[in-house]
Order: sequence, then C-alpha cells, then structure tokens
Amino acid sequence: MNLPEVLDQYQAEALQAIADCREPADLEDVRIRFLGKKKGRLKDIQSQLATAKPEERPELGKRFNTAKQSVESALEARKEELAQPQAEIVQLDVSLPGQPMLLGKRHPVTRTVDDFKDIAGRLGFDVADGPEVEDDYHNFVALNIPEDHPARDPLDNFYLAVANAGSGGPWLLRSQTSTVQIRVMEKTPPPVRIVSTGRVYRPDTVDATHSCMFHQMEGLYIDSGVTMANLKTVLKMIAVQYLGDDIEIRFRPSFFPFTEPSVEVDIQWGDSWMEVGGAGMVDPNVLKAVGYDPEKVSGFAFGLGIERLCMKRYGIRDIRLLYENDVRFLSQF
Ligand code: DAH
Repeated sequence: MNLPEVLDQYQAEALQAIADCREPADLEDVRIRFLGKKKGRLKDIQSQLATAKPEERPELGKRFNTAKQSVESALEARKEELAQPQAEIVQLDVSLPGQPMLLGKRHPVTRTVDDFKDIAGRLGFDVADGPEVEDDYHNFVALNIPEDHPARDPLDNFYLAVANAGSGGPWLLRSQTSTVQIRVMEKTPPPVRIVSTGRVYRPDTVDATHSCMFHQMEGLYIDSGVTMANLKTVLKMIAVQYLGDDIEIRFRPSFFPFTEPSVEVDIQWGDSWMEVGGAGMVDPNVLKAVGYDPEKVSGFAFGLGIERLCMKRYGIRDIRLLYENDVRFLSQF
C-alpha cells in the first residue's frame, strides 16, 4: 500500500471508530490509538513519511496534515456530542414477542350476583336497588324490629357518626338487604315481585365463613294468595339452577320480626349443613307499615347470602379468599 492509500485507510478507520464511541472514555482510547504521540497509527505513518522521496514530501505532508486534522476535529465534535444530554437511545427488537394482554374477568362474587339476577329474572322477578347507607326506619322500624331488639345493638351494627344530623337517621351501613323490600313497597302498589342484590355490613368476627361485609340477594313477592309453598318452590328452584339438580336444601323453623312464619335455609355442606339465608311469609305489620292491606295481599320474602352459595358452587373453603384480590386465586374462575 502506498502512503496516500495508507492515509486514506487511516482516516476512514479513525472516523468510524470515533462515530462508534458511546462514551467519553471510549473517545480517549480512540485518541490514543489514532493520534497518540508515542505509539499509535500516526507515529507509524510519520516514520513512513520520513522515508518518502524529497520531491513527494510536501504533497504527502499536506495529505498527512489533512488526515490528522480531520481526525482531530471529528474527535472534538464527538466529544461535544457525548457531553450533551442524550435522548435515550431505544433499542427496539421488533422480533421480540409482544407483551401478552391480561384479560380481566368477573370476580366470582360478581358472577354469582349476575347468575342469581339471571335466574330470578327467569322466574319473573324484577331487579330493584337500594342504598347501602340506610336510616334506622328502613333497616329496622318498618321491618317490625322493635326499639329494644338485640339486632339494633350498636355493637352489632355500623352506625355512622352523622347519626342524628339532619332529617331522618340514625344512619347506619345497612345490615341486611331487607331494607329494599320497604323501599320498593313504599313506591309500588301490589303486586310486587323483585329481587335485590348488594352489600351488607355487620361487625362480625371474621373467620372462614363470616365477613363484616358480604352480599345478599333479597327476594320479595307480594300478591293475593301467595303461600309458603310458593316460597319453598322458588327457593328450591333457585338452588337447583345455581348449584345443580343434586343440591339438598333444608328449611328450619326460625324467627324473624318481619316474617311469620319464618324459616332458615340451609344447604348441604360436607357432612353437615350451612345456613345460607332466611325467609318467611311477610309479617302483616310490615305490610301495614308500607300502606298495604294485609287482608287483601300476602307474600313471601327471602334473603340469601351470596358468598356462601358462591363458595359452595366453586368449592371455596374460606370466605376471606374472596376479598384478598389475589389474582392467582381469582384467575381460576
Ligand atoms: N334479613 C335477614 C338477615 O339478614 C334474612 C332474611 C330473613 C331475609 C327472612 C328475609 C326474610 O327477606 O324473609 O339475616
């Protein structure tokens, strides 16, 4: 290779190396390699220059200087460039697989609520709604729960601090969806056939089957000539629709102030039974409280615990799993 070619190659390689530098320390390496005074490429070329023919020397000297200067100024320019705050260089590998989209699902409690509304709808029930913050009239008084009834105990309810402010009240987080029975009957003349789902609140000690917030589905059917047989049929149909033909349910005589007679509803739970709700024939006092005539209409009501039925359906042993928002648990449904 003659000297001009060597110079061309030197210049080309140096400029490339400079362009490849990513940080100032790299530049220093390149400077030593291409411009170093002691060793390095330039030194070799200089010694070749010394051996060139005298008449060629001025021309070659010029070439030499141009090459050297162009490397020096490229180095300076790159140095300045690297000193600037750089926009982040994004290395994009278009062959990488994309990020999988996580598709949301309905929570098992939501599914159960939806299933129940659907089943009740097919049985001819409309869906009604009511507030979670209630006054004690709708939560107790109109439901025939007297002043001194233990269900009204402050230790068994979440009374709100605004208790006696403004009109109405005392206020509390509703302890049952039976409140919606009253709200619907206040507004609607009979016949009435509704269900209502939603949250209820009780300061229960939390364990595998109790939570201080849970969901209920309330049902109310008022018409002329409604009987306990109708109630049992409807509850059995709901249970079978949701849990399958084999489900055993049991009605246990009980007492609720707002129904007479009253029953508790149990479902099979392993070797024993689990209470999943209460029901009964609407007490005449409740019908009177909303302005209905107990001589003309009668009806049944029921309240079912959504979580326990959901647990039965999906084989969930601990109610607390439903509230922990653990995606590993929830994604199974
Ligand atoms: N509200 C009752 C409870 O939460 C359940 C209940 C019992 C609802 C009897 C009813 C009923 O509608 O008729 O314990």
